[in-house]
Amino acid sequence: MARLIGNKKFEAAIFISGTGSNLKNLIKFSRLKNSPLKINLVISNNKKAQGLVHSKKNKIKTKVFSFYNHKNSENKILNILKKEEINLICLAGFMKILSKNFIKNFRGPILNIHPSLLPKYKGLNTHEKAILNKEKFSGCTVHFVNSKLDSGKIILQRKIKIYKNDNAKSLQKRILKHEHILYPKAIKKLASNL
Ligand code: GRF
Repeated sequence: MARLIGNKKFEAAIFISGTGSNLKNLIKFSRLKNSPLKINLVISNNKKAQGLVHSKKNKIKTKVFSFYNHKNSENKILNILKKEEINLICLAGFMKILSKNFIKNFRGPILNIHPSLLPKYKGLNTHEKAILNKEKFSGCTVHFVNSKLDSGKIILQRKIKIYKNDNAKSLQKRILKHEHILYPKAIKKLASNL
């Protein structure tokens, strides 16, 4: 587990695959005074990920790995993380599942944000599933990553009401706004517990 001593910050890598609104938001958070987060690296498995514009615009080192050969890509990433002295990974819409070996060999916490009230609705299409099951509430969760999908220890959750006229898209849009509040809060909580 990483240690933050004195005023030291997390030296983080953010992993993305798509839009990158959480990445954009974490960059903003990292720029705040006294933020515990410094983003040194952005990793994507998708060279066309829209979110890469945010890392480039903010001059953050960016690397793309195809994951065509999963093990090979993971080993290369582990080497870079070591070289860059990264001690925190934040998955933010990253669509690859990290192996046991990767998780074991990284020297710090790995966090993920998931758009449901875990342990409910792991995996994809969470909003569709919540609506289909006539849930009254959904939400978002920041949790530690372990070797089982969306199953690691929960750090923080936010509960959001599902309205009668919600569809998957409207719910997704509303929950995303709450994700942008929750992820920084969870990182602060983690930093204050170290
Ligand atoms: C978010 O809903 C996140 O919870 C999920 O993937 C989505 C990524 O959105 N894991 P963005 O790329 O950060 O906009």
